[in-house]
Amino acid sequence: MKNILITGGAGFIGSHVVRLFVNQYPQYEIFNLDALTYAGNLENLTDVENLPNYTFIKGDIKDIQFINQIFEQHRFDAVIHLAAESHVDRSIVDPNAFIETNVLGTANLLNAFRHLWKGNFEDKLFYHVSTDEVYGALGKTGLFTETTPYDPQSPYSASKAASDHLVRAYGNTYDLPFNISNCSNNYGPNQFPEKLIPLFIHNIQTGKNLPVYGDGQYTRDWLYVTDHAKAIDTVFHNGKRGETYNIGGLNEWTNLDLIKLLCAKMDVKLGKPEGTSVQLITYVKDRAGHDRRYAIDNTKIQTELRWKPEMTFEEGLEKTIDWYLQNSDWLEHVTSGAYQKYYVEMYAHR
Ligand code: NAD
Ligand code: DAU
Repeated sequence: MKNILITGGAGFIGSHVVRLFVNQYPQYEIFNLDALTYAGNLENLTDVENLPNYTFIKGDIKDIQFINQIFEQHRFDAVIHLAAESHVDRSIVDPNAFIETNVLGTANLLNAFRHLWKGNFEDKLFYHVSTDEVYGALGKTGLFTETTPYDPQSPYSASKAASDHLVRAYGNTYDLPFNISNCSNNYGPNQFPEKLIPLFIHNIQTGKNLPVYGDGQYTRDWLYVTDHAKAIDTVFHNGKRGETYNIGGLNEWTNLDLIKLLCAKMDVKLGKPEGTSVQLITYVKDRAGHDRRYAIDNTKIQTELRWKPEMTFEEGLEKTIDWYLQNSDWLEHVTSGAYQKYYVEMYAHR
């Protein structure tokens, strides 16, 4: 493989994947295709933007003609597909944006890849990056495995499930070589402050309330973003083609416990008396159709591909907080303008 297309590379996870591939594999030409929506930010990639094996292409995966043209021009041997609308709350407000990008956009990439290689798929790969939310919600016990039936509950997860099905269907129908990985909640530097951890770091910094949905007893399985990037590298290079791998941190937290830990750490970092930030917690109206619990069984990737999470949650959370405190310019750029409107519309009536 030589020319590798990474979609959504200016986003949170995508930027860590681009960095890893550009630095680790100088023999590859890495093309980062991103529409630069509100979630895409080239400031995430200033350290690699001038490297000779990196090219940024601004464009939209919804634009069929443009997609076909760049596939013809650059003859991508492999695609690592991360571009998506990714925030559950936004999918509740505007489901069609999710269907258009996540379902139709994925179909455009699959079609372009299939038409380019016309069945000669030797050493080619379409790698689709997906989410554990396609499996629905767990009760108090149990874990998602690769054979858990799909049961998506939000417009976001339904759109990701649909895209997973399309990738498998193209594998079955056209022998298109693929991998899919379904990962749990990521956290770390560069995450847009609409998701729980960066939103709450920002709100604590600016003295705003911490809006806890419902009873705060919802549970997520948290994974540090560079561990996810390394897992993607592992599946890309060593995964058995046609297989799905679940990726997770074996690190379950109720939202409330996580928020209390975050508050305690933020008090120390900001030099505030113990117990200051926790007073910002405000219980607000629940998310519609809120999934109670996600948790991943990562036995398959651990045993077959020898990947495991490296970062402890304590250390990862420290690094994340430090990054946001040290990158106030980044945070300021992404929270000015449209973000203010988003925040009011999303939270004013909760
Ligand atoms: P993100 O929202 O931070 O980034 C998405 C990126 O895709 C942005 O750079 C955006 O500009 C780009 N994009 C959006 N629509 C596009 C379009 N039509 N054409 C081209 N580019 C477009 O998302 P993220 O959290 O980094 O997630 C990346 C992928 O990983 C997604 O597919 C998501 O479903 C999946 N995932 C995320 C998590 C998580 O916890 N964040 C967990 C598991 C899987
Ligand atoms: O599981 C993987 C998924 O994790 C990814 O596929 C999604 O792209 C990613 O956004 C994430 O989805 P969640 O809905 O779990 O993440 P979010 O950060 O939005 O919310 C985490 C939990 O915190 C969830 O139970 C809702 C709650 N929450 C979130 C926000 C933004 C609050 O209580 N208050 C908030 O303001």
